[in-house]
Amino acid sequence: MKVKVGINGYGTIGKRVATAVNQQDDMEIIGITKTRPTYEARDAVRQGYPVYVPAESMDAFKDAGIPVAGTIDDMIKAADIIVDCTPGKLAEEYKAKYAAAGKKAIWQGGEDHSLTGISFNATANYSESWGAQFSRVVSCNTTGLLRTLFNIDKNFKIKNAYVTLIRRSADPNDSKNGPINAIEPSVKLPTHHGPDVQSIMPWLSINTMAVKVPTTLMHVHTIVAELGSEVTTEQVKEVIKACPRVRLVKSKEGIKSTAQIMDLARELGRTRGDMFEIVVWEDGIKMVGNVLYYYQAVNQESDVIPENVDCIRSMCKLEKDAAASIAKTNKAMGI
Ligand SMILES: NC(=O)c1ccc[n+]([C@@H]2O[C@H](COP(=O)([O-])OP(=O)(O)OC[C@H]3O[C@@H](n4cnc5c(N)ncnc54)[C@H](OP(=O)(O)O)[C@@H]3O)[C@@H](O)[C@H]2O)c1
Repeated sequence: MKVKVGINGYGTIGKRVATAVNQQDDMEIIGITKTRPTYEARDAVRQGYPVYVPAESMDAFKDAGIPVAGTIDDMIKAADIIVDCTPGKLAEEYKAKYAAAGKKAIWQGGEDHSLTGISFNATANYSESWGAQFSRVVSCNTTGLLRTLFNIDKNFKIKNAYVTLIRRSADPNDSKNGPINAIEPSVKLPTHHGPDVQSIMPWLSINTMAVKVPTTLMHVHTIVAELGSEVTTEQVKEVIKACPRVRLVKSKEGIKSTAQIMDLARELGRTRGDMFEIVVWEDGIKMVGNVLYYYQAVNQESDVIPENVDCIRSMCKLEKDAAASIAKTNKAMGI
């Protein structure tokens, strides 16, 4: 019997989670929700997903000629687990509904750790969500940092990490947000990214700053980490190379920027041209004494997607071993 998954909030993250879940053989999408009869609702119907809507939106969908399977409450009833991909500020309201229906639920990185008390990253703490009713897949940036820092720390013990996040200002389908011709520093320092990493690696000393730049493709992180010992650049490269869902690329082979990374993702034939892996420039990894320097890029729309699949497996007790779940998800998604 496949685990029945409902997607609440069918936007950038929700639609990608739906595709990834349907690629697995141990879980299936039983419905998605939409509050407005937009092109995305019509496309969900085209893809064969039952569309559930708020009771008060039924008429609008009827007028638009978009078939509806029931209310959002109906979808919650029909699902074993809900992947909540709604925008911020709705979490408490929906949490009460999921709890009342006795259902499991996963939230995304826009919510705080305190909502669930458990945060998830497949590499770093798969088993902490084992059998849990509620969990939270950390944000795209936090996922990116954990994918590399966890194994670097495990192998070489990080004494201090200093990270600058160069953040995309909007997703590619977003024409509302900016800046479109400016660079905007986050002045609330240190930024929330360090504490978010600590929701999973509480022992890590990490310090973060961030600037928003006019691009939509990816975030880039510049990372400086003081390690517990003097190891070689080659030793670090081997560890980064072995991290799950991390791809090494070379500037000297033409991948000089996020533009070529996303071109590579399209060439790989990925759904929606997504790059699920965190991309590290191999020729940009350097040890000087005990200080490690490297750059990595994060496709914000997609790196958390396989994490949601693994989180479902852990919460629904489908696979005990983290590495086995990661491998299964990756194979089904072509990673
Ligand atoms: N985009 C990213 O880069 C990114 C990366 C990692 C994590 N996240 C996190 O993922 C979560 C979702 O972000 P997103 O980027 O996917 O947002 P998004 O593209 O704005 O999608 C959210 C969707 O929720 C729907 N929605 C609005 N009100 C709703 C309600 N009351 N009930 C049910 N659905 C409702 C909206 O569609 P309708 O109103 O048309 O139904 C919208 O399409 C956030 O926590 C965010 O922080 C985002």
